[in-house]
Amino acid sequence: MDLRSRIRDIPDYPKRGIVFRDITPLLLDAAALDAAVDALVAYAAPRDVQYVVAAEARGFILGAAVARQLGAGFVPARKPGKLPAETVSAEYILEYGVDALEMHADALAHGANVLVHDDLLATGGTARALCDLVEQLGGHVVGCAFLAELAFLGGRERLAPFDVHALVSYA
Ligand code: PRP
Ligand code: ADE
Repeated sequence: MDLRSRIRDIPDYPKRGIVFRDITPLLLDAAALDAAVDALVAYAAPRDVQYVVAAEARGFILGAAVARQLGAGFVPARKPGKLPAETVSAEYILEYGVDALEMHADALAHGANVLVHDDLLATGGTARALCDLVEQLGGHVVGCAFLAELAFLGGRERLAPFDVHALVSYA
């Protein structure tokens, strides 16, 4: 399945000079959606994953499907102020802004194996924040899985030493 052809380029969004990689055509295509979830699950399956942690908002789309297929739990990392119980927090820098993510403080069993997921790896700030949140709660990041990676932004290096897997890579 050619997943790359189902990701659409939108030039100058959300700012001039940014090429936005829009995954919504892939999500519309049932066979491509199925193939993407299967490929992410194939990466994660040997890693004994107990929870999938994913970032609001686009990370939730495939993250929950991957968790369901792995037989794992799903932990949403949300923008500040959205989670109702006690939270832990990590700040990060985006390709086009600054933000923070929060997770519930009781979201993970201590020592649990966690797959970090997002739709797209750009600078790695978001995924690094997810890894930091997992570690703050005593979890083990057993891998980081993305639909797409903007390799030229160095996100993979920012996530070292964690293992990184992306289904589609843009040089
Ligand atoms: C996008 C994308 C990733 C993040 C990647 O999310 O879904 O979460 O940027 O960038 P990074 O590797 O440089 O951190 P965005 O913040 O645009 O939010 P959204 O998912 O709510 O659209
Ligand atoms: N998140 C950060 N950079 C992005 C890009 N260029 N396209 C889609 N999502 C993104």
